Amino acid sequence: YAESGIDAWLRYARLPASATKGHLNSFPNRIVVLNASKNGPLASASSELHKGIKGILGLDLDVSSSVKSCFAQKTIVVSTLETYKSSCGKLSPKVNLKEDGYWLNTKGNSVQIIGQNERGALYGAFQYLSLLGQGDFSDVEYASNPSAPVRWANQWDNLNAATAAHGSIERGYGGASIFFDSGLIKEDLSRVPQYGRLLASVGLNGIVINNVNADANLLNETNLQGVKRIADLFRPWGVNVGISLNFASPQVLGDLTTFDPLDSTVIKWWTDKTDRIYQLVPDFAGYLVKANSEGQPGPLTYNRTLSEGANLFAKAIEPHGGIVVFRAFVYDQLNETDWKADRANAAVQYFKELDGQFDDNVLIQIKFGPIDFQVREPASPLFANMPKTPVSIELEVTQEYLGQQCHLVYLPPLWQTILGFDMRYNHRQSYIRDIVSGEVFNHKLGGYAGVVNVGMDDTWIGSHLAMSNFFAFGRLAWNPQADSQDIVEEWTRLTFGLSRDVVAAIVDMSMKSWSAYEGYSGNLGIQTLTDILYTHYGANPASQDNNGWGQWTRADSKTIGMDRTVSNGTGNAGQYPKDVANMFEHTQTTPDDLLLWFHHVPYTFKLHSGKTVIQHFYDAHYTGAATVQKFPTTWKSLKGQVDSERYADVLYRLQYQAGHSLVWRDGISEFYRNLSSIPDKLNRVRNH
Ligand code: GCU
Repeated sequence: YAESGIDAWLRYARLPASATKGHLNSFPNRIVVLNASKNGPLASASSELHKGIKGILGLDLDVSSSVKSCFAQKTIVVSTLETYKSSCGKLSPKVNLKEDGYWLNTKGNSVQIIGQNERGALYGAFQYLSLLGQGDFSDVEYASNPSAPVRWANQWDNLNAATAAHGSIERGYGGASIFFDSGLIKEDLSRVPQYGRLLASVGLNGIVINNVNADANLLNETNLQGVKRIADLFRPWGVNVGISLNFASPQVLGDLTTFDPLDSTVIKWWTDKTDRIYQLVPDFAGYLVKANSEGQPGPLTYNRTLSEGANLFAKAIEPHGGIVVFRAFVYDQLNETDWKADRANAAVQYFKELDGQFDDNVLIQIKFGPIDFQVREPASPLFANMPKTPVSIELEVTQEYLGQQCHLVYLPPLWQTILGFDMRYNHRQSYIRDIVSGEVFNHKLGGYAGVVNVGMDDTWIGSHLAMSNFFAFGRLAWNPQADSQDIVEEWTRLTFGLSRDVVAAIVDMSMKSWSAYEGYSGNLGIQTLTDILYTHYGANPASQDNNGWGQWTRADSKTIGMDRTVSNGTGNAGQYPKDVANMFEHTQTTPDDLLLWFHHVPYTFKLHSGKTVIQHFYDAHYTGAATVQKFPTTWKSLKGQVDSERYADVLYRLQYQAGHSLVWRDGISEFYRNLSSIPDKLNRVRNH
């Protein structure tokens, strides 16, 4: 069990004696938890600290709730700020805690873990355990607050009523759903609290349990009782449950003949349904809605606007304090013969004019880029087109276009490229991270959604190493400026132990992996050149064009890339604020790694690097593949330092990746050599 992945980074493996030397004698001998609500996050903090310290240090601490011990030596005090103040007096120094934030003080031989709320105390407890788990006994004293209030996992789990099968997961690579089976919520929900524990340990406070392509049957009474069971199991971890809605539910479930959002019977239907949900789950987080996109029903069917659709739910949920997360991923099929057609334009075209028309409790959830979780995209222009509306960013932890957990691709460097992008709204500094935190446009709401898609597999998402992305998603939602290398170092120590070799190897591979994958899968902003029609897996550049999906490359025998300029193309560059628009409008000022995203150029076009586009393609594919071909050797150097089960599993995948990168390299390089008839200068690429 210890070697499986169920506990992920929360294994609490015993530290070696060398790491604890000199620390155990002075270590606290009791945990005092003040005023914990029944089965709430404080109770979890207490049991987790007890379990963690026992595991990591081998110490079996007393647990009490006695207030007398507030200032006793050798005590770990865990409390909310309010309780602490009333039971123990002022906290000094004065700390400024935001919702869910915490104060951690390990100076001397007592420890204070004080949360702004119970959840914050739980987060502080996990942080403390992370330090201990890494063998870090240094004195710390700091307050930590989340960057944004909404930090949710999105699961794309299906109910699978029709097929009477275990719930499948759209773009999930870690087995069947932990929630659903044959159209119902499972009897055995034992994985739910384990998942809640992982979510809480990295500061995530909400989860949407079902696919955005939503099955209305989740709203039947039996299933709502099931949602209650799930919410009860997540609650101790401070994770609130939300669900995805099918817009046509009143009709699909056979209750009404319409789902027009302005129809009074529809309004009543949703109001009643929402009231029922809150009877069962008083702390229900909210609704997630994908409407009028990829075949999903929505308000446009009735000539109502997307905001009228969103507000239907917003009004029903507002009295209960919930929110509606409305996805901006709305687009139509397009015709490639139209030079100006561009799916990247869709979100702004649909949503810009609705800015100001959404109710206050609506959050617009925007995928990080304008298309669909590609290996490289610019930030979505919509982030800078809705100043009056709170927005959140959608990141994809599950590696849909990025190797589906068969390739090691550590994603934080990609995510931080987006989060650290300056939109220059009104010529002022406006990083995406500050837009989604609500800071730039002064909104209370804002945040992060990560499409995580864990399943029943005991690695959770299908691969041990891929879990660093889940861990990092939580860390970045809390602090988007955290260093991605520090994050993977922390994750590695907690997951694989303190061996310097192991940490160095995993960090080295992880930090190189995104750039390597970009190299062999699709570079210069051309997108992941994968099979876009069905699997989103493996090399298939021909599938990008001549279809209505709009993920085009417009590659012909002489030229390649999407012309998104205002002067001659789709105008997409012009959707960005002026400074950014000017940068993307011209090839000279567009960074090489986004050149083909914004420009249609000859294969012989010279990059800033001095190379031609086609030679860069060849070189990057070879360099990227060569990088990951070293991964198995790097991993093999750790033999004996990683337990045999995980050693073998990871090695298998890294060897697969090394081989598959060659398939990618040769497939793509040959495709463009054939198309362009321009040879590789180094003569590596030949017709086979
Ligand atoms: C991608 C993905 C779909 C998903 C969609 C969405 O296109 O391939 O499976 O439904 O995104 O985010 O809604």
